[in-house]
Amino acid sequence: MQVFVCQTSQLPSGQHKILNHNGRKYVVCNFNSIFYAFEDKCPHLKARFTGRAFGMFFSHPGQDTVKCGAHGAVYDLTSGANIVLPKGSARTGNLPIYTVTDQSGQLYADLP
Ligand code: FES
Repeated sequence: MQVFVCQTSQLPSGQHKILNHNGRKYVVCNFNSIFYAFEDKCPHLKARFTGRAFGMFFSHPGQDTVKCGAHGAVYDLTSGANIVLPKGSARTGNLPIYTVTDQSGQLYADLP
């Protein structure tokens, strides 16, 4: 389902927005003018990426990523693949990534 996010100009590079949709929270972010959307819930132990205690980061050499501040898991935003395991865990799931499109200056996320 296409969900309106905001005017494209309202989401500059390096920024993110929280979107409430169907009772869930999603993060829509702009990473170097590429937009990504994902649920604000880490696949490891369900911590919010944007939670006050955890924070959210988009840094990993050469990749667009999000890092969960709870135990350090890192996910590739282009595929959702887990690329750094959480501390003390041998595995975690991948992070579903949803398409965001710019339609004449308006951002829409394709969310479930
Ligand atoms: S809850 Fe995200 S790394 Fe553990």
